Amino acid sequence: MTTITIEGGTGPLRGRVRVPGDKSISHRALILASLADGRSTLRGLSTGDDVRSTASALRLLGAEILGTEVIGGRSRLAEPVRVLDVGNSGTAIRLMAGLCAGFPWLSVLQGDESIAQRPMGRVVEPLRAMGAEIDGRQDGRYPPLVVRGGELKGVDHALAVPSAQVKGALLLAGLTAEGPTTVRGSVPIRAHSEELLRLAGADVRSDPPHLVTTIHPGSLQPFVLDVPGDPSQAAFWLVAACLVPGSEVTVEHVYVGQARAAFIDVLIRMGADVDLEETGPTTANITARHGPTLRGTNVGGAEVPGLIDEIPVLAVAAAVAEGPTGFTDASELRVKETDRVAATAALLDSVGAWSEPRSDGLHVAGGAPLSAGHIESFGDHRVAMAGVVAALVAPGATRITGWDAVRTSYPGFEDDLRHLLGGQG
Ligand code: S3P
Repeated sequence: MTTITIEGGTGPLRGRVRVPGDKSISHRALILASLADGRSTLRGLSTGDDVRSTASALRLLGAEILGTEVIGGRSRLAEPVRVLDVGNSGTAIRLMAGLCAGFPWLSVLQGDESIAQRPMGRVVEPLRAMGAEIDGRQDGRYPPLVVRGGELKGVDHALAVPSAQVKGALLLAGLTAEGPTTVRGSVPIRAHSEELLRLAGADVRSDPPHLVTTIHPGSLQPFVLDVPGDPSQAAFWLVAACLVPGSEVTVEHVYVGQARAAFIDVLIRMGADVDLEETGPTTANITARHGPTLRGTNVGGAEVPGLIDEIPVLAVAAAVAEGPTGFTDASELRVKETDRVAATAALLDSVGAWSEPRSDGLHVAGGAPLSAGHIESFGDHRVAMAGVVAALVAPGATRITGWDAVRTSYPGFEDDLRHLLGGQG
């Protein structure tokens, strides 16, 4: 387990940065390109271990993935002779379950210790209803998963949790099912699956406000994609810029489409100086500057799926803000790479900020002058990087253990940190 030590209070972050390609888009683009007949070109894929795991699993199924090129097609894919290892990636295991459900073979999906604790019933139950045979620990509620796919029939499924991973898995399975497959949600969630399926020529519709998505079976065409920057990674630099005096950071070409950039609305509500310059229909350069002290706010309801991954770093902003902040309706945080409610509360405690974990979120007191301490990542990349943001604000040396977790999503994080700390603006 590796450690990083951050010297806080040493200076502003200044400059422009490009974060890795969006992780959610990268997983899906690789899967769809593996299904599409012919050669797709995917530029700017996430360089993290999570997306590498998806690429390795797809290679085991028969896709050719070399650099930016993917040669795929249903007829190339075959029963894997080895276990498909998703590493630490919940998105990979759930999407791959949907993909494998559409093929008449046996696939075994497993991951690390954290994956073994992630709930799978949400994806296993509807895939079984479509006709797939799936087993796993505790009757399929936890990995490893054993999938014997085959002849599926379309279903009309109401999401029990607002999960884009579940929606994605069912839409993938729906590609080969008999009849249409419909996924219904009650709040907007990320729309990458349908956006990319459409790019690959699938018959998929989601009428505004995008709560109901229907796919008809069909084949996919190869496509060319430039993956935009990951807003969840951009969030670390943008929050840090808001909190560290003298900072001004621009993160270039970030995805800001449906249910991905709600953390920006929250920062603006807290009084932060953040602005967006559009670079495309769903992308923007985002600039954040240090400004007046932030104010606490309430974060809950329908906006939560659009910022669920950013709550650890928003909680750091909340700890520094004047007045309390409540994060509610976020019980999903308890079943991420780690229990992120507990891990975020521990992070704040390590730097002298007071918070109270709740069953569905966190109450953060606010107004704390952060002090250097020892932060534990609990093997969770987002907790580790949120820890850096807290450490930059706290004068003195803060040690973060379990730093290697960052490799899953942002292997170049330390280089970008050095670049921004050395930036003259
Ligand atoms: C993701 C969806 C979210 C998110 C995760 C990535 C995706 O999870 O937290 O990091 O790519 O679909 P849920 O679908 O479980 O909400």
